[in-house]
Amino acid sequence: MEHTITLHPPEITKGSDDIADLRWPDDPLEIPDWIYTDQRIYELEQQRIFGGDVWNYAGIEAELPNPGDYIRSHAGSVPIILARDKKGEVHAFENRCAHRGAELCRSQRGNADSFVCPYHQWNYGLDGKLKGVPFKRGVQGKGGMPADFDMQAHGLRSLRVTCHNGAIFVTFSANTPPLPEYLGEEMLGEFNTIFNGRKLKLLGIHRNTLEGNWKLYQENLKDPYHATLLHTYLTTFGLFVAGNRTTIVADPGGVHTALRNARPKGELKLDENKAQINSFKEGMKLADPRVLDFVPEFNSEWSSSAITIWPNLILLRQMNILSARQIVPTGPNQFMLIWTAFGYEDDTEEMTQHRLRQNNIFGPGGFLGIDDHEAIKFVQDGLDKGVPRGGVAPLGNDDEPNDTVITDRAIRLMYKHYRKMMRL
Ligand code: FES
Ligand SMILES: [Fe+2]
Repeated sequence: MEHTITLHPPEITKGSDDIADLRWPDDPLEIPDWIYTDQRIYELEQQRIFGGDVWNYAGIEAELPNPGDYIRSHAGSVPIILARDKKGEVHAFENRCAHRGAELCRSQRGNADSFVCPYHQWNYGLDGKLKGVPFKRGVQGKGGMPADFDMQAHGLRSLRVTCHNGAIFVTFSANTPPLPEYLGEEMLGEFNTIFNGRKLKLLGIHRNTLEGNWKLYQENLKDPYHATLLHTYLTTFGLFVAGNRTTIVADPGGVHTALRNARPKGELKLDENKAQINSFKEGMKLADPRVLDFVPEFNSEWSSSAITIWPNLILLRQMNILSARQIVPTGPNQFMLIWTAFGYEDDTEEMTQHRLRQNNIFGPGGFLGIDDHEAIKFVQDGLDKGVPRGGVAPLGNDDEPNDTVITDRAIRLMYKHYRKMMRL
């Protein structure tokens, strides 16, 4: 449900419009280096993409189940707070004091009646409204706020919030369409396979800082080509190989994409093209093969799907692992990734244990994901140190059937949209 609030217009004004020296190459297959490295582009992205008509994923409702619960999150690079009020409604506001701009909430999560800024102790309600200012009337009739100081006008800057079956999204814009419309029918269907109305249960969160541009992560999950080559875990254990049944679907605007894959039934098939694949490791065994078990639980023919929702969410269903990865850009050359693993509140204890065990596939000690982080760093290193030129996304063509995996179609679609939003 979405609630109505009065929006303070976005005032992200740091970006410079002076990018006249940057011109997109004529060849539509070429992607210029500067979109990954230029500080001005990064700042314009904050304004035109994250501050524009998009829904920024911000968390799941299971992270703040009770009135007074709050978490820190981000919308683009802007730190925000999500808080549940006493009536149960979720609010989002900038984590920046209206007085002198201090980041007022310093704990990652907690439960509170109000937020008190540590600097001069202005305090704000769970809806972000200013409730109290110490020494408002000064001392002994001297100092203090002007008589016409308007408390209403000095709340924390609010964002619009929408909660969809347990997922929380925020936007700075009054014009972002409702989430179902924003996702489009097919993507909404994929989304609702996971967020299907069952109450979510938080299983854990971990964070990584990656040395690369945030868009490289969107690209990575729109790129099935690498998945069949880079990932030892996927290729060796037959979970994603070039011969598996796979489709890539996109919303009509081409901005959100779902990469779906069906694990072969019965014995896991080893890839017949394995001789071409360096990552295939014959004889590699798992100490606990239960991580490969798949418990059918979804109304879907696909055993895994990676949904890239523009601009900052990767929603992953890998067998029984459910996770939302939030992309937080922290500069042209760096971003943070927040992985939120969850299950459902009505899962059996056994299923919870299974999900937790399976979640070991990802994360700092995992079999998968770390490879992507390294690959992204290699790309960024190349972009930073090489002589400027364009990268290319030449595989496949834009009208091919959606069951081809050796293709860059989804990446090209994304940059078509990106150029439109960025006016490049
Ligand atoms: S900066 Fe927050 S109260 Fe002064
Ligand atoms: Fe990957």
